[in-house]
Amino acid sequence: MLNLGFLSSHSGSNVQAIIDNVASGKLRANLCALVSNNSHAFVLERAKKANIPAFHISSHNYADPEKKIIEVFNEHNVNTVILAGYMKKVSADLIHNFSNRVLNIHPALLPKFGGEGMFGSNVHKAVIEAGEKTSGATIHLVTPNYDDGKILNQMTVPVLDNDTPETLAKRVLEIEHILYTDTLIKIANGEILIP
Ligand code: GRF
Repeated sequence: MLNLGFLSSHSGSNVQAIIDNVASGKLRANLCALVSNNSHAFVLERAKKANIPAFHISSHNYADPEKKIIEVFNEHNVNTVILAGYMKKVSADLIHNFSNRVLNIHPALLPKFGGEGMFGSNVHKAVIEAGEKTSGATIHLVTPNYDDGKILNQMTVPVLDNDTPETLAKRVLEIEHILYTDTLIKIANGEILIP
């Protein structure tokens, strides 16, 4: 069974999509805990509304936030960590503690348009400036480096001639909400194997 622990820094619309898909029965998973490094993150409200234990953990309130995250997730029987709009790097310790079952969603088709600094509208701006006709989103395993783990699943969207970073971001976000759940379903049924 997928026992999910979430890491998210801002809005949490990807987390909300997973919450909704578990509620509808589309995705079978336990929503065990959510951690945000941002005490004002709306994702904390989303978690509380869904009765998911929610925690603000950052260097502002913990000397070793990473250690506290591992503690909280272990206390809540997490076996799969879901990064969704999480703006911090995760350590090799955390990845090892969850035996490589740490996933992230990136709003582009890795391995292109990834790496340090490639987040938010920077990604979509780079895609448009490169003249790409297709973009999309990627679910990948997390390593201690940004965006370079094993790619597990991708979905594509067209890049339109008149796209701005904002219009492309909106189109990509829409399929992100499908892609994360699709990937988790395939991990649960063995279609996608995590080494
Ligand atoms: C998404 O674009 C995702 O690809 C990136 O951060 C954004 C998260 O948005 N990692 P939200 O917080 O899930 O709405």
